[in-house]
Amino acid sequence: MTITRADCVAKDARDVLASRRALFSLPKGVIYLDGNSLGVLPRHVAARVKAAVELEWGETLIKSWNKHGWFHLPQKIGARLERLVGAEPGSVIVGDTISVNLFKILTSALGQRRKRKVILSDSGNFPSDLYVAQGLTQFMADGHEVRVVAPEDVAASITADVAVVMITEVDYRTARRHEMKEITRLAHSAGALMIWDLAHSAGAVPVDLKGCGADFAVGCTYKYLNGGPGAPAFLYVRPELQNMVQPALVGWWGHARPFAFDLDFVPAPGIIRQQCGTQPILSMTALDAALDVWDGVDLRDLHRKSKALCQLFIDLIEENCARHGLKLSGSRAMDRRGSHVSFHCPEGYAVMQALIAQGIIGDFRMPDVIRFGITPLYTSFADIWDAAAVLTRILGEKLWNRPKFLARKAVT
Ligand SMILES: Cc1ncc(COP(=O)(O)O)c(C=O)c1O
Repeated sequence: MTITRADCVAKDARDVLASRRALFSLPKGVIYLDGNSLGVLPRHVAARVKAAVELEWGETLIKSWNKHGWFHLPQKIGARLERLVGAEPGSVIVGDTISVNLFKILTSALGQRRKRKVILSDSGNFPSDLYVAQGLTQFMADGHEVRVVAPEDVAASITADVAVVMITEVDYRTARRHEMKEITRLAHSAGALMIWDLAHSAGAVPVDLKGCGADFAVGCTYKYLNGGPGAPAFLYVRPELQNMVQPALVGWWGHARPFAFDLDFVPAPGIIRQQCGTQPILSMTALDAALDVWDGVDLRDLHRKSKALCQLFIDLIEENCARHGLKLSGSRAMDRRGSHVSFHCPEGYAVMQALIAQGIIGDFRMPDVIRFGITPLYTSFADIWDAAAVLTRILGEKLWNRPKFLARKAVT
């Protein structure tokens, strides 16, 4: 390899984020390149969750809703996320899943554009987002349509019948990044509302929801934000819209006076009306603790390191693995990419299984994509070099070509 391991160690020595790695519980013998699916456990989270279980739940019991602020955790954590997604104060709330939150904001948005019937999305969107929109339009059965175009055709497809443009900024396979500001501008000039899915953006690339004028956004916290498996998602509504919209999925946590137990729903002011029912407090606690690792992180440093790590990985793989048929997926322009790197790879499933067996953990996406999440808070330049060296050996020596690597498991 023309770039040596010593070059990478030198880069680590100069890295302003290098000290963050010690905050994470990285398993020995593993190079974890799957933080874009499930982020690593920050070390202090286990103690916080233990205290929440043993003291808050175990001893304080029901009084914890007030005493330990359980009831307000969704807003408190939402406020912590605002800096990470460039959102206005009071515009983010945490809870439920992306899919559930998308239903809420899609119905909120469609309620504002009753004469228009099209939800515009693209084929790079995560399928669950499309399923939510399809389920909703089928249920409404009044001529609404989910129109799916190629990612490069989104801008030209925002026609006067479009009620909502619903797009994921960073493609979960290719890492291609949409131009949030420009697409939002085009949506607005055509009279449509704009929904962004930030699942692969939050904690991966700088996001400026306020600056780009987005109307709504959703995202998850179990990937780059390290909130843990099944951690609650987040939801954003632009402040001026918050009191105008009415999601179709409402519940007592979104009521103006939940403990009045009125028989009729009266929406709470602001972002709170987007809440539905009781939230998973232990998961919320884990997420709240996990977000401590972001305190003091300059997102420009994060993005700079993300791009440098991704570029290094692409260079090493192209230099050493292209002859085995690996081909970069997505753009070469680093500002047009998120923080994962994917390659089309013949026998990609078996190759990934062979990598995992050697402690290099990434994942596989149909039909032939091997995908590596680059998480600048805990991934080092030396990790990237080591991972590339192992992949080069696996391909060169055909170590993937064994029955145990070829047999498919349920989760890839
Ligand atoms: C871009 C994107 N949107 C939506 C989802 C679905 O999220 P959830 O399972 O929280 O509904 C995912 C899951 O990985 C995703 O990557």
